[in-house]
Amino acid sequence: MAAISSVLLQLCSSGGHVVASATLYGGTHALLSHFLPRTCNITTTFVDITDHEAVKNAIVHGRTKVLFFESMSNPTLNVADIPELSKLAHEKGITVVVDNTFSPMVLSPVGLGADVVVRSISKFISGGADVIAGAVCGPARLVNSMMNLHQGALMLLGPTMNAKVAFELSEKIPDLGLRMKEHYRRAMEYAIRMKELGLRVVYPGLEDHPQHQLLKSMANKGYGFGGLLCVDMESEERANMLMHHLQNSSQFGLIAVSLGYYETLMSCSGSSTSSELNAKEKALVGISPRLVRMSIGYTGTLEQKWSQFEKAISSMRDSSTLFEIEGFGIRGLIEPLESTDITLKHLLKCHMNKVDVKDTLLAHILLKIFIPQSIVIYNLSSLTKN
Ligand SMILES: Cc1ncc(COP(=O)(O)O)c(C=O)c1O
Ligand SMILES: *[C@@H]1O[C@H](CO)[C@@H](O)[C@H](O)[C@H]1NC(C)=O
Ligand SMILES: *[C@@H]1O[C@H](CO)[C@@H](O)[C@H](O)[C@H]1NC(C)=O
Repeated sequence: MAAISSVLLQLCSSGGHVVASATLYGGTHALLSHFLPRTCNITTTFVDITDHEAVKNAIVHGRTKVLFFESMSNPTLNVADIPELSKLAHEKGITVVVDNTFSPMVLSPVGLGADVVVRSISKFISGGADVIAGAVCGPARLVNSMMNLHQGALMLLGPTMNAKVAFELSEKIPDLGLRMKEHYRRAMEYAIRMKELGLRVVYPGLEDHPQHQLLKSMANKGYGFGGLLCVDMESEERANMLMHHLQNSSQFGLIAVSLGYYETLMSCSGSSTSSELNAKEKALVGISPRLVRMSIGYTGTLEQKWSQFEKAISSMRDSSTLFEIEGFGIRGLIEPLESTDITLKHLLKCHMNKVDVKDTLLAHILLKIFIPQSIVIYNLSSLTKN
């Protein structure tokens, strides 16, 4: 965050304007939407970064200084067209700043036309979740201006890296390429297998990802499509249940908000790293509470870890019970709700075949008698009114 805030403060003065992607890490989103307007009168217009017309229209002549986006967005894994966006910004004299936290080695934004790259080193580059750091990579002119004694954001705000930490980090960089390849190899294989299991997977390495071809055209050969994938679990309860089983029944991974670690880390972004966005902002950019973000690790063997994933999926299925209320055409699934605050409740998913409204009410009463502490979700698609 210090890398991001320093570079924005260096490039924009009071009254300045930023055009930014609407899908950003929650902290960056809060910096741009709340903190910078209040403290510095630097304002931001958020746009869908895949809509280049919208990006163009958001640029305010004379005021917009920076176009800011994530090369691969957190947590929706949309990929930005770096060459096109850079061209468009440069035509208007605007500096392009790209957050490449999710895709080191995979993407080289400066080679693709961007001016400045910022990174959270706390993630893949550290790889050990033991360092909190960031980097600004840009032309010497900018970096030197950031260290200016009178006007430099790094010099004057002081987020300078401790020399010992810098040394430790330098020891981690030689194997970053190897690590990224293994994160990718496993994420790719798991994404394919999860899809085969019928899960809804978002992974830029899959052909069905909207920017798969774009990423392929920009990516450095041999490093694949990154180590992050998302699974849409249809409900927040099921998302939490999946993470719970993956951590507690089979040790596939750990529930934690970070990424780029050697163990697999999982989180529901909607309620964690993107919680700074309000409900409307989240809905707009497709961050649903049902989404489980996974940063795939590389400990153990791929098959060993996959068997742990399968075990968690099957124990999730075992903990659901089918029920049927005869004579009412009501069938469904009872799933224990494992979200922390409502442990005693059960989720009932009911499918009703050709029943009328009276029967629905009766069914509701019956279900409440059978399972009083329950939440009932009806699929009423085939309901007939009379
Ligand atoms: C894309 C992205 N950028 C920036 C950050 C902020 O990094 P740090 O926690 O190292 O300040 C994060 C953290 O999650 C992130 O995911
Ligand atoms: C903030 O910037 C805008 C745009 O330049 C300007 O019109 C406005 O007066 C500024 N507000 C303050 C409080 O300085
Ligand atoms: C799940 O596992 C974690 C980590 O081992 C532990 O802290 C937590 O208490 C466990 N939760 C449950 C409900 O068993």
